[in-house]
Amino acid sequence: MGNNAFTSAILIIVGITGNLSRRKLLPAIGEMAKAGVLPAQLRIVGITRQQTADIESLLTGIAHAEYIRARTTLFPMSLTETADFARLDSYLRDIEREQGGTAQRLWYLSVPPKTARPIIEQLGGSGLADIPNTKLLLEKPFGVDEESAKELVKHIERSFSSEQVYRIDHYLAKETVQNILFFRRDNPLFEHTWNSEAIERIDILASETIGIEGRVAFYEQTGALRDLVQSHLLQLAALTLMTLPEKDAWHEVPQARQAALRALEVVPDRIYRGQYEGYRDEVGNPDSMVETFASITLSSTDPRWSDVPITLTTGKALGEKKTEIVITYRRTDISQSNRLTLRIQPNEGIELCFFAKRPGYDRTIERVPLAFAYADHFGALPDAYEHVLLDALRGDHTLFASSGEVLESWRIVDAVRKEWDAHPEAFLHYEQGSSPEQILKKTAANGECP
Ligand code: BG6
Repeated sequence: MGNNAFTSAILIIVGITGNLSRRKLLPAIGEMAKAGVLPAQLRIVGITRQQTADIESLLTGIAHAEYIRARTTLFPMSLTETADFARLDSYLRDIEREQGGTAQRLWYLSVPPKTARPIIEQLGGSGLADIPNTKLLLEKPFGVDEESAKELVKHIERSFSSEQVYRIDHYLAKETVQNILFFRRDNPLFEHTWNSEAIERIDILASETIGIEGRVAFYEQTGALRDLVQSHLLQLAALTLMTLPEKDAWHEVPQARQAALRALEVVPDRIYRGQYEGYRDEVGNPDSMVETFASITLSSTDPRWSDVPITLTTGKALGEKKTEIVITYRRTDISQSNRLTLRIQPNEGIELCFFAKRPGYDRTIERVPLAFAYADHFGALPDAYEHVLLDALRGDHTLFASSGEVLESWRIVDAVRKEWDAHPEAFLHYEQGSSPEQILKKTAANGECP
């Protein structure tokens, strides 16, 4: 891509009045404007079906709102009318003329998958997809199972080349998640022991205190497994388990993640699901079997990870908000087990639990932490959506999920769902505010770090 493509860009946000755009995209643009990392000539075109939408109502509480206000036009249109897409194209050309050449066009589809399909068709049919430097950014969920995801891949390939498509998994773009690769690559102490000889098990947890926040229709069709495990948690697992590419071969990272996912298999007698009390009333469906909690254990066929259980757990309306990767090291006959925690959020940081002699006259030991907190060392972290937008503008696919990765993760999720469908009686109900251990009626095997 020529330099001009980065200097001049048009970001077309389809669904600009939606929740994601208000909560994530527009604030990210504001922050990036403040940091001065956006293309010098950036224009934002906000597509909406609402004739009376108003930009001011979208900018409340956003840093650098004046930057966005000055560059954004709302463009009301139908998302299925060919004539409207032609009208939009002519408007985009007007902008490009003002910018003095061709800009890159980023189509950010911030709409549900069902709405995204016909838009992709329109972009393909009208020739808009073929305009040089056109990119397509898609939000999850990418399909509902492996079959539908395959079908969606084909559908998109009819109009866009794989280079043009950016499948967003915002977890990949979180600073602390990106750091997994750097932590492994640049700390040989850990990378040398990053295997089944030293590691006993890996636990990946995304515990949320929020419920479904009014997203009734979405959640009733999705559930915790499809919402969090298929995308975010399996991506965290992939980054933890993958073989690191050669130094600085970042473009190989998606392939490496895919290979890690391909090696994963479900351990059928260690998969659990549950639902918080009150969920059925909330969604108005007294028979709902949608899980708000899921905990699945996987094994890997990669010899590096033989006999290492990898457990992914997530739930809504739990007692604590935290996302972390916990690596538990093997104990020996005379030692205890060490534990390394990569804390993704909140209180982002890394903690190593080890043992020290408790000062005194007895030979007793105590578990103590060695801790690093991002906040103490680096200050505020950029939001994941800032990376998403910037990398898409720069044409860097490292932090986006390839179609191969998406299909591998659906394979795993489909296998879990098949087991669950065969055992509908195994369904846990939990009180809001519970911990995963309480739901699974087990206690942490290694005690807590102080
Ligand atoms: C989204 C899910 O992808 O991730 C939500 O749809 C979930 O259900 C959210 O709450 C969690 O993201 P974060 O960045 O707040 O951990």
